Amino acid sequence: MGIRLRSTLMVLMSTALFFGFLHLFVPNGSDFNFERLHIFLFNLCSGGTIVLYYTENVYKASVRVMAFCVLAMAYAIAAFLKIYIPAMMIAVVLALIVESVRIEKFSVFPINFFKSSAPVHEKFHQASLLCLSIGLVMSAMVILNNEYLKLITIRKLQLDTFFLGFSFPLSLISMSVMFSLMKEEMNRLIHILKNVSFWAVTLGVITFFGFIMAEQLAWQVVITTILTMAVILILYLFKTLGVHVQQKNFLLSGMVFLLFTAITGIAYIILEFFPAYYTPQASKFLLKLHAFVSLYGWNLSGLAVICRYRDFPILLHSEKIIFFHWLIVLILAPIGVYCRFFAVIAVFAYTVLLYIIFSTRGSSEFSFKRTTTIEALKEYLFKINKNFLSEEAHRQSLSVSRKSDPSDDVWENNIDDSDWR
Ligand code: HEM
Repeated sequence: MGIRLRSTLMVLMSTALFFGFLHLFVPNGSDFNFERLHIFLFNLCSGGTIVLYYTENVYKASVRVMAFCVLAMAYAIAAFLKIYIPAMMIAVVLALIVESVRIEKFSVFPINFFKSSAPVHEKFHQASLLCLSIGLVMSAMVILNNEYLKLITIRKLQLDTFFLGFSFPLSLISMSVMFSLMKEEMNRLIHILKNVSFWAVTLGVITFFGFIMAEQLAWQVVITTILTMAVILILYLFKTLGVHVQQKNFLLSGMVFLLFTAITGIAYIILEFFPAYYTPQASKFLLKLHAFVSLYGWNLSGLAVICRYRDFPILLHSEKIIFFHWLIVLILAPIGVYCRFFAVIAVFAYTVLLYIIFSTRGSSEFSFKRTTTIEALKEYLFKINKNFLSEEAHRQSLSVSRKSDPSDDVWENNIDDSDWR
């Protein structure tokens, strides 16, 4: 991914988090629905753009991808300002862009969902695009119904429910990346488990969305428990079948964020069973924590891997970065919702994290570029051995393409040379 698109995404994602705290800094801040800017700039604008870029699979972002990014920003602003006619029209145009990319890469009818021979990562990929285009059309229909036609009255049928709706395509594309890094096992049981994971997650999120609309709390607990079991199965499959590459660390950390997402989400549903405890304070804190862990934890892990997909391994100490990531998502951001000082620290730390993820030099840039001062400092601080890294780049790209692990002696020889894995 070129530096221009990476910088655009970095600015978009940091601005999104900034809007998540803006209610603390403007008078009567809670009168404004900054959440629409916060969540739509992250999941629809940044996330949607990355999903299309990954699907087109060309280094330079196409006009179509950039058009999606700009229009999605316009959609988020129109939805925030409650200018609904343009928001509806833009949503339909965005859906058409997504569908044009999906049909070009796959087919009009998602036939590969039903082909047992089709790779599961391709099924997740197409499901992500389909979920995004259907979500966009549904959001336009919800605006049309709620603001103009008023034909259906469902309390949960709100534009804000697409905070969740537009997040699912990012989960599905992160799952697609994970399954693309799993070894192709001829074992029948593994093949079945991979396909069961696909159907459990895709049908699970659709049914869950339906039960939220119908406010069926008991069924929400049932379906989200099944979803959580599917997440644990996928974590097991990825841990055992995933090839040893640097991306694996981020995606495993992402999966743990997803487990946290499920725990906070199910806790939120259970809290709704006890009106005495379901106070605005308790529910707000849990939902905020859920949103931070799911979007800035799980989704960001997947999106970071997609944005640097061609560049791995990248020049960074992934364990330190992963620890920094968790600190921001679990501590700084949730406290930031209630305290201006932590809000500023959280946005600053998050921007630094994005800068490191998006700007750190990758394997495709090792040899021919002069080392900048920042990099020299990073190499010195993190004791990074560049020669080992370029060898490692070759080994990892081989193992990704061959989906096989490196010979032990290569790994052993280098294991103590750098603990940046
Ligand atoms: C098993 C897993 C999950 C459970 C149990 C769960 C549960 C919930 C519940 C109960 C809500 C509140 C819905 C409402 O009544 O309005 C919610 C909202 C939300 N969920 Fe999840 N969810 C899960 C997975 C996810 C995932 C994977 C993502 C993102 C990738 C996500 C992102 C969100 C967002 C952004 C909101 C809106 C938060 C807000 O309004 O501030 N959730 N979730």
